[in-house]
Amino acid sequence: MILVTGGAGFIGSHTCVELLNRGYEIAVIDNLCNSKIESIDKIKEITGKDFKFYEADLLDRAAVEKIFEENKIDSVIHFAGLKAVGESVEKPMEYYHNNIGSTLVLTETMAKYGCKKIVFSSSATVYGDPASVPIREDFPLHTTNPYGSTKLMIENILSDIYVSDNQWSIVLLRYFNPIGAHKSGLIGENPNGIPNNLVPYIAQVAIGKRDHLSVFGDDYNTPDGTGVRDYIHVVDLSIGHVKAVEKVSSTTGVNIYNLGTGKGYSVLEVLHAYEKACGKTLKYEVTPRRPGDIAMCYADTSKSKEELGWVAEKGIDEMCADSWNFTQKNM
Ligand code: NAD
Ligand code: UFG
Repeated sequence: MILVTGGAGFIGSHTCVELLNRGYEIAVIDNLCNSKIESIDKIKEITGKDFKFYEADLLDRAAVEKIFEENKIDSVIHFAGLKAVGESVEKPMEYYHNNIGSTLVLTETMAKYGCKKIVFSSSATVYGDPASVPIREDFPLHTTNPYGSTKLMIENILSDIYVSDNQWSIVLLRYFNPIGAHKSGLIGENPNGIPNNLVPYIAQVAIGKRDHLSVFGDDYNTPDGTGVRDYIHVVDLSIGHVKAVEKVSSTTGVNIYNLGTGKGYSVLEVLHAYEKACGKTLKYEVTPRRPGDIAMCYADTSKSKEELGWVAEKGIDEMCADSWNFTQKNM
């Protein structure tokens, strides 16, 4: 059985669907601090499969131990964590406490119960402002905010655990920019308040909840001057996790993979793709750069292709169409 931490969240819920569809047994722990119980019901509705859901905090050691007592957990996919870059600058202690503390409780419990296989949600943010693109896994690592620092620290903690006991099998997945939603429109991304990220913001403009998109800077050294990112469909990303689970099950060691498409799109290109998906013209205004943003970020995907046998298949139009379908059904 696979334990999915943060399985009620955006990427976790889609990954639960892909695992269940392939016949894996799962259990989920989530404290619902950034998600809703409904997403658990929706996962069951999409797959027609049942599983145990523990509404609990990973910082609660007794609750985590209970899961390992009640189930034979073979491996863990660890999504749970706080993820807002700006908020992490304002509340660093909360970010370090939650993200690092919960990983320590989790890995200590895993060790206690002899479960030594883990797939961890890292981020392309650990590359900082890369010297060149596409970004390879062996590029230097550097972080610029507490959120990114928690990701890098957890990568280091997991690597140290392997050094101390080489029966562990660890996969660190560095995601680029996950967007889109499940085809059913039942699960997707619907942040509370004002969205920080580009596509959730555009979705709210398209549905009429916000007037216009602010484009953060058009004077970057990129083809149209706006920031370029590697957007990846959340379902492709989820399938990457299935491959990563297969990897931890068949090897030991620490393996690191980028999960992206290898292709970069500018802010304006994404906006235009979304206009095509929703059939409307969407208003935007160029505003100053957002502090901390970089010009360009996209993945070299050759290692994940060779070693995981995984490539992202869905393009930007499908990502926007699936986001729009979800938005219409849920906002
Ligand atoms: P999300 O917020 O939708 O999901 C995270 C889930 O973890 C939420 O359901 C939340 O309730 C739960 N959680 C948080 N702290 C917890 C705790 N202490 N105990 C139990 N549950 C807890 O975020 P997501 O977009 O699905 O991201 C999943 C993971 O991927 C995160 O670790 C995130 O940092 C990482 N990641 C996300 C992105 C992105 O752009 N979405 C990019 C790179 C990496
Ligand atoms: N942008 C706008 N207007 C907005 C929001 C974003 O112009 O309202 C621009 C940004 O300047 C950037 C691009 O759209 O050029 C993408 O911005 P996002 O906030 O969607 O994504 P980021 O690349 O800044 O960051 C995301 C996650 C991080 C993660 C990083 C790398 O939010 O947590 O990808 O994986 F670390």
